[in-house]
This record gives sequence, C-alpha cells and structure tokens, in this order.
Amino acid sequence: MSENQLSHAQTPRKILITSALPYANGPIHLGHLVEYIQTDIWARFQKMRGHHCTYVCADDAHGTPIMLRAQAEGITPEQLIEKSSQEHQADFAGFNIGFDHYHSTNSPENEELAGYIYTQLKDKGHISRKTITQFYDPEKSMFLPDRFIKGTCPKCKAEDQYGDNCEVCGATYSPTELLNPKSAVSGATPIEKETDHLFFELSHFEDMLKEWTHKGHLQTQISNKLDEWFESGLRGWDISRDAPYFGFQIPGETDKYFYVWLDAPVGYMASFKAYCAKSGLNFDDYWAKDSDAEVYHFIGKDIIYFHALFWPAMLSGAGFRTPDAIYAHGFLTVDGQKMSKSRGTFIMARTYLDHLNPEYLRYYFAAKLNSRIDDIDLNLEDFVQRVNSDLVGKVVNIASRCAGFVMKKFDGQLASEWSASAQAVYQGLANEAEMIAELYEKREYGQAMREIMALADRANEYIAETAPWVLAKEEGKEKELHESVSVGINLFRVLITYLAPVIPATAEKARDFLKLDGWNWSDVQQPLMGHTINPFNALLTRLEMDQVNKMLDASKQTLQATAPKAAEKPAEKTQQAGSVSYDPLMEEIEISDFGKIDLRIAKIVNAEAVPEADKLLKLTLDIGFEQRQVFAGIKSAYEPEQLIGKLTVMVANLKPRKMRFGMSEGMVLAAGPGGKDLYVLSPDEGAQPGMRVK
Ligand code: MSP
Ligand code: ZN
Repeated sequence: MSENQLSHAQTPRKILITSALPYANGPIHLGHLVEYIQTDIWARFQKMRGHHCTYVCADDAHGTPIMLRAQAEGITPEQLIEKSSQEHQADFAGFNIGFDHYHSTNSPENEELAGYIYTQLKDKGHISRKTITQFYDPEKSMFLPDRFIKGTCPKCKAEDQYGDNCEVCGATYSPTELLNPKSAVSGATPIEKETDHLFFELSHFEDMLKEWTHKGHLQTQISNKLDEWFESGLRGWDISRDAPYFGFQIPGETDKYFYVWLDAPVGYMASFKAYCAKSGLNFDDYWAKDSDAEVYHFIGKDIIYFHALFWPAMLSGAGFRTPDAIYAHGFLTVDGQKMSKSRGTFIMARTYLDHLNPEYLRYYFAAKLNSRIDDIDLNLEDFVQRVNSDLVGKVVNIASRCAGFVMKKFDGQLASEWSASAQAVYQGLANEAEMIAELYEKREYGQAMREIMALADRANEYIAETAPWVLAKEEGKEKELHESVSVGINLFRVLITYLAPVIPATAEKARDFLKLDGWNWSDVQQPLMGHTINPFNALLTRLEMDQVNKMLDASKQTLQATAPKAAEKPAEKTQQAGSVSYDPLMEEIEISDFGKIDLRIAKIVNAEAVPEADKLLKLTLDIGFEQRQVFAGIKSAYEPEQLIGKLTVMVANLKPRKMRFGMSEGMVLAAGPGGKDLYVLSPDEGAQPGMRVK
C-alpha cells in the first residue's frame, strides 16, 4: 500500500496485533469469537488506513489438560494438537478472521524464544528455586494441578469442588485445605509430596510494573484492579512443572518443564518470528527495546493477570520492548445468561457456520462492542432484528434499489456530472470518514456502527426524496434519474467502505459489483464518476428467527452427542481474575463404560452419625442378596432417622474403600450442590432391594 493512500499525510505505522492463543484441547465457540472478531476488525481497519499491520495468532498447545485429553483419546499430544489446529483454523477462516500467520506454541521458534527469555531472567537473578509441597496422584504417578483435585469445600462442605475454589459458596483455598481430596484424573486419594519448583520473582519488577500499568497501556478499569493486586503484594510466580508434562524442557534442569503460561505469551513472538521468515519482515524491528513499531494484545478479562503483570515483566527482564497496550474485553452471554449447554446457547463456531452467515455475527458483535471490559450479550431476537433492519434494510437495499436502473437505463455506467445538491449529499457522508476512523481506532465499534447507520438513514432519505422509481416513469427525466441512482450507488460505496472491516465478505462481493480494486479508507474522498459497474447480485439475505432456532436445536444435539470438550483453566485464572467459572472436565464414555457400573436398589436399614466426621452418615444398606456398610457425605442434609426405611440407589460394585471409621462398601446416589441442598435418589414404588438399575 502506498503512502498517498494515507489520510492526513500520516506516515504508515508498523503495527503488530495479536489475539489470545486458544487452547488446543477444545473447539472454538461464540465466546471466543468475540475476541477474534474484535481483533480482526481492528487489524482490517488498520490495513485499510494504509498502515503496515500484521495480525498473528497460534494454538496454545501445552499443559496438563492437553496431555490428559490426548491420553483419554488414545492419541499422542502431537496428534491432538495437530487435529485442533486444523479445526481451529477452519473455524477462523469460516468467520473471515484474517490472520497473517497462525502458529503453534509447540514450535521450534517458541522453544528457542522461551528458553532465551528464561535464561536471560535467570542470568539476571530473577529466578529462584523453592521446595513446595504439592498433591501427587500415586496411581498416575504425577503431580496434580489444583484444578485436577476435587473434594469437599472446607467452608460450606459442598462436595465435588475443585482444588482452588468452591463453586457453591465462592470460597478460595489451597488444595491441601480441601476435605476428602480426590484426584480428578484417577479418583485416587492424592498424597502430599515435596518437589522443587522454579519461581519468577515478580517482586523485582514492582517499580517497573507500578509505572507501566499507569502509563496508558491499560484500560482504567484494569489499572485500578491491578492496584489492588499491588496492595496485596506481588508473589513469585511458579513457572516450572514436573514430568510427566506436555511442554518444553527447562534448559539446565532434568525432568522440569515450563508451565504452559510461561511459553504461551512467548507464542505471540514465535508466531511473528515464523511470519518474518516467510514475509521478510525483521523480528527485531518489532521486538527490540528501541523498536518504533507498535504491539497490541487483545485478550479476554480472565487472563489480564498474565498479560498485564507477568508478560511485561518477562519482556523487560529479558531485554525486549513491552507492548503498547493490552486491550481486554468482557465475556459473552446469550440472552442475558451464561452460555448454556442445555439451552443450546453454548454454540460452537462450526454449528453456527453450518446454519448462519458469519457476517451477521460479525456485525452484531461490532454493534455491541466498546473499549471497556463489560460483558456483551448476544440477544437472539435483537440479533435477527438488527441484522435485518441495519445490514439488509438500510445498507444492501440502497444498492439493490439503484443498481437495476443503472444497468437497464444507463448500460451500467454511473453519471459523470452531479448537481451541487447531489455533491453536498455525498460530501455529507464522505466527510465523516475521520470521525468514524477515530471510533474504530478507539475500539468504540458500537458507536461507529450507530454513526454509520445514521449515515445510511441519510442515504435512504436521499433516495426517498429523489424517488428514482417515479423519475423512471416520467418523460425527459433521464438526467435526474441518472444522478439519483448514481449518487445512490456512491453512497452505498461510502457505507460499505466504512463497514468493510466488519463485514469483509460482503465488502468483497460489493467490490466485485462496483468493479473496484480494493477498499482504502481515503478512497471515499473521490466519488465514482462515469465509472461502470457490474450487475447486482444479492449481497446478504434476510435472517429468519427460524434459522436461529434450527441452529440452537443443532447445538443442543451436538452437545449431547459429543460431551463438551471444555478447556480446563489453570488455577490462577480464577484466583486472580475474579468471578469467572469454567466448565468441569467432562469426557465421553461408551455405553459399555456405563454398563460397568452395577447400580442396585438398596433399602436403608440403618443410619447413624459418625461422631468423628462432621459430614458423614454411616448407612447399612440391604441389597437383597447381602447387606453393605456405606459412609455417605450427606449429614448436612439429613437426620439419620429420616433415612431409615427408605429405598435408594447405590453403586454396588465400587471397590471397597478403607476409611478412618471402617470399610465403605459402595456409594449411594444423591443430587444437588451440597450442604442442605442434597437429595438422596429414591426409586418409585414397586422397586425391590437388589433390583438392577439400568
Ligand atoms: N490459552 C489461553 C490464552 C493464552 S494467550 C498467551 C486461553 N485460551 S482460551 O481458549 O481459554 O481463550 C482464548 C481467548 O478467548 C481468551 O482471551 C478468552 O478470554 C477468550 N474467551 C473464552 N471464552 C470467552 C467467552 N465466553 N466470552 C468472551 N471471550 C472468551 O485463555
Ligand atoms: Zn463452599
């Protein structure tokens, strides 16, 4: 792109933009797309302005969840991440996310850069070694991340809670405080084991960070949040993990690996480095300390801690430049609620693409996005209505109303002379180019869309006033008709120019229709006079609620067929970034797996409290052919007497477990979050002790 395409004689900026790297163990869903669409709009906008802009991303391929998922699927981690990478890239391409390069954190570039940064930090004395005690799964012979330990909340006694926080009462704690902890990997009771870990001494960077976080690199909401973190003190960051782990070996250590979050942001650099090799760009121009390029990271609010503290500290400690800005966005809700699997609103990118045009969602997200980190809501009725009234009704309509006359009456040629009043109307729209550009630049997309739609209203008014369909029927009004439809097509061109970063596929079709070479922001200053266009084909069709409902149905089915492969989040995300909760790790089982569970109707013939355990009841269960003793964590919800005589359901073939108070020979089934809110399952009348449940 040449310099004369730049408005206001700006010199082209060198810009590097990234989106957060999606985990390789789960599919892309509409929540993710908030981010990739937001970033892509910004990148496309910068390119249209004539800047030298590069947009890179990669799959985040390391860590325990990926290792375990590969094991569960019976493939190697490399096979799993290869498959994910292909799926992710196909989904992104489907939504017209225009990465200049898409890489993987499991790449030679990343290994080299992560090793280099670590070595720099170590040489400068920023890495320390400490012995820590961590839970260890004796069956799987591996240390367990907090999220892979489940047990009873030490505070509210809710069962089946993660090792870092309780989803029932919201308490945060360390996994060693959990009551009755279990490995989520094998079910074994974890043991505590000592191990040496490496820490990045974040406190060495306290002054640097305090300054950096208040120099306009972050949104105000975030700087304020960080101040709270500074107040509670910067702790060393644990950057090593013991084998077995899927990641990079730490240079100079045996059986120690970089924690996934150490090499993940380095993946931004690695992806760019790989791009340099194919594009001829110079890596140091962008990353050296004295670089005059601009670097921006778009991220979700849940990963601020990593990007606003660890990352700038790592970069500055290793002698690289720090980013110009971290732009965080909020989370997606659907119809005002968290995305839900049962309502079908946990929509995968692929499911959406199977049913609806990606341009609709890109426009809707743009209309909802701003520069703050508030959550954004996809309201499905509003979605249908907005797309139809704005894109189809106000914008595309202009072209379809005017194109026919241009083709039929004027051989596809636009007028080469306009009256002063027509010029004024055109100028009215073209003059807003800088105002709209500024809104894009500030990521105020919602406001930009409102301004553009207000201009579309003006364009439609012009057409209504000049009424080409009336002129076409009158004698001797050829010139007026030609002007009206030519100005109409030109107004359409201005609107599509302004919308091109948001709806690139539609813009591409419109480019064909208008016979243009490309979309440059400043081109709207020159109207198309005497220019020939192509016949008009529908650019976008109306969206019907029915199509949306079909997508929701399909979404429900997809989620039932394939259990959600939710990405497991590391503990820090929830601990540091506030109230974001994640989906439990769920794996599909075969019907034969289910068949292994011997469920039996059991009669509770006796129930008594266990004095030493404040949450357990000792139950005696009659299953027809024998009696079993079972310890059940249901004391918070039942008095023992309430249960005697009741029928319930038990897992009869559970391996007996020795507990402190005796053997537990099975498990009774109960539902509910825990505490008082716990309900023992009971069968309908007619069931007899010992009957098999199937
Ligand atoms: N792998 C890390 C990022 C490493 S960056 C060096 C990660 N991956 S993720 O797949 O969980 O998320 C990728 C991005 O999508 C994150 O910025 C995250 O905030 C964003 N989103 C994931 N779910 C989202 C919503 N429901 N809504 C909006 N953004 C969401 O985090
Ligand atoms: Zn709790």
